[in-house]
Amino acid sequence: MTEKILILDFGSQYTQLIARAVREANVYCEITPFNKPINYTPGLKAVILSGSPFSVNDNNAPVVDIEAISKKLPVLGICYGAQLTAKAFGGKVEKSGKREYGRALLKTKQDDVLWTDVPAESQVWMSHGDSILETPAGFELLGTTDTIPVAAFKKNGSDAHVIYGLQFHPEVYHSTHGKKLIRNFLVEICGCKQDWTPSHFINDTIENLKKQVGNRKVIMALSGGVDSTVAATLIHKAIGDRLFGIFVDNGVLRKGEFEQVLKTYNEVGLNVKGVDAREHFYTRLAGKTNPEEKRKIIGKTFIEIFDEEAHKIEGIGLLGQGTIYPDVIESVSVHGPSVTIKSHHNVGGLPEKMHLELVEPLRYLFKDEVRKVGLELGLPSAMISRHPFPGPGLAIRILGEITEEKVRLLQEADALYVKALQSFDLYDKVWQAGAILLPVKSVGVMGDERTYEYTIALRAVTSVDGMTADWAHLPYEFLAHISNEIINNVRGINRVVYDISSKPPATIEWE
Ligand code: XMP
Repeated sequence: MTEKILILDFGSQYTQLIARAVREANVYCEITPFNKPINYTPGLKAVILSGSPFSVNDNNAPVVDIEAISKKLPVLGICYGAQLTAKAFGGKVEKSGKREYGRALLKTKQDDVLWTDVPAESQVWMSHGDSILETPAGFELLGTTDTIPVAAFKKNGSDAHVIYGLQFHPEVYHSTHGKKLIRNFLVEICGCKQDWTPSHFINDTIENLKKQVGNRKVIMALSGGVDSTVAATLIHKAIGDRLFGIFVDNGVLRKGEFEQVLKTYNEVGLNVKGVDAREHFYTRLAGKTNPEEKRKIIGKTFIEIFDEEAHKIEGIGLLGQGTIYPDVIESVSVHGPSVTIKSHHNVGGLPEKMHLELVEPLRYLFKDEVRKVGLELGLPSAMISRHPFPGPGLAIRILGEITEEKVRLLQEADALYVKALQSFDLYDKVWQAGAILLPVKSVGVMGDERTYEYTIALRAVTSVDGMTADWAHLPYEFLAHISNEIINNVRGINRVVYDISSKPPATIEWE
């Protein structure tokens, strides 16, 4: 039985980081909204309370019964979670004179197993408007900083489990010993066996997939991306060629991608059919210039083709998908429902349309865990470390109308760009990179001739999850090299520019 930690989410921007820190300690965890009843299953080892944008003194502040939880399991309260604990047991929590945000020096007050291998003074990251001024009666003070009297505390009870409270954020990178603290809580205090490893996950998942699928057939859309490939490989290991993969050439893939990806699928033994539907997509996209309309056309056409292929295989019972954990975490919405800025739907709409039971082996994994599982499964590292690539492909990197000729130009420029990033050892240092074709013509001169041709914009960003991103500070020598390469080798392009916008306010893709 896999051990589990439950993280109650009070809406903090860092909740996912807590989960990732727990998983990094090889302990499985799940995030759940604070107000969902806790299911005390035998494997559940502890409850962690997240931070929150609320103040514990707000009228509508989210609360849970911490005392009741501690009767069943150890508790770790982080930031808001610590303040809520202090308040619940009669401690004093009040607005700080000024918001404390950023680095602070944690000074441990007394020996505790939580401080195992943590120095007496270490850097931590603070982000709070309220401060705990007094620990409640029956609690022990474990740490302070120069600005706040209570940075860490705990309660030992004869009739309950231990409760720890940390005012700072151990889950963020800038808390230098934060990961260690989380590990100490999990291992030294909760006795976790650290059994959450890629190989353990693979064995468990294959067993579960065998049970779920039985002797039925599964169909799955493959894109060449990390998630769908790893998901398909797991399903294939469980049910062999009863998994039917479909990989569609929508005409807006990268240069040579269709052939290359099919070849890799073949090499790893997946049963995948390649469908050349380029003409179909080009016909539907002709004359369309609106980004959202282009996305919708590609999504809809893809579903039609996939559905048609599915009907050619007799007795399909399930639909495989590469859904990962960030797509399914139920988030606590603090600022109301979020606004759709772009509709992302590379496989969107498939499940509803096909009325098939879903198989989603990666549903509880973070992206970095998917990569580790992929490597453990023996997938080629080039496939595992590929940059994200949007479902609508080059269609949203050709601004305005799409023509075969523009696709060809962009494919050439993009291929040179990716190759150069690799040869300059920059590919793995950026999170995502791609070339964009601008439909504006400008004047140039080549030899003795005047040219009047398109512009290529190059984009490269650093990011963690694509939600925010900074433009990558690529070396000038590299930019000079790739500019020359593209202009000299791609006829139809006479100008190259580099995009220096961050997200927000810009987005990663131009459409
Ligand atoms: P933006 O442009 O929103 O991109 O900053 C964030 C990430 O999402 C990808 N992206 C898409 N992926 N279908 C997809 O599957 C889409 O329509 C789509 N639009 C953007 C983008 O490549 C980046 O990784």
